[in-house]
Amino acid sequence: MVKAAGAIGKRQAQGEPRKQAMERNVILIGFMGAGKTTAGQLLAETIGFTFVDTDARIEAAAGKTIPEIFASVGEPGFRDLETAVLRDVLRSERQVISTGGGLILRPENREAIRAGGCCVWLAASPETVWERVRHETHRPLLHNADPEGAIRRMLAEREPIYRETAHLCLNTAGREPESIVAEIAAHLHEHAA
Ligand code: S3P
Repeated sequence: MVKAAGAIGKRQAQGEPRKQAMERNVILIGFMGAGKTTAGQLLAETIGFTFVDTDARIEAAAGKTIPEIFASVGEPGFRDLETAVLRDVLRSERQVISTGGGLILRPENREAIRAGGCCVWLAASPETVWERVRHETHRPLLHNADPEGAIRRMLAEREPIYRETAHLCLNTAGREPESIVAEIAAHLHEHAA
């Protein structure tokens, strides 16, 4: 059973080998449209872990869709739910966890993620993201007059945060999910050896 994220962080600070954290969970971070869900499901199947999507957990807990949650409690209310769901999910292990693109914005979430397993950043350019999300309607942060500009602004703000949070960074440009998953699986294997 996994202990609370704070306790794990303390043990690591005291020198617990990283190998143990690598085996706990794999946490995928990255911007909207980076392919976290597709790669995550395939990775979970490949390494025999359970697949968990934090947005799906939030929707199940709230009994509302993400746009409905934003409409009723705004982004701050959504972020509170997100933090609570992350804490809960990280109580279990052997999971591939696909996270919402903004989950890394809170320092406490970043700390919990790094302590809870191997964190992988799936990086994508603004052009790739726009191409992937332009026909979708379920992302409230892109419901505005200039979604392409919003993507550029948010990506510029978030990229340094994704980079500093991740144990492994992968550029997804032009890559099939199978190739991304093979690289992550190889990394996990190497670090568990
Ligand atoms: C968000 C990303 C979304 C979802 C919410 C907010 C963000 O998840 O959590 O709309 O802040 O980037 P995906 O990254 O799965 O689209």
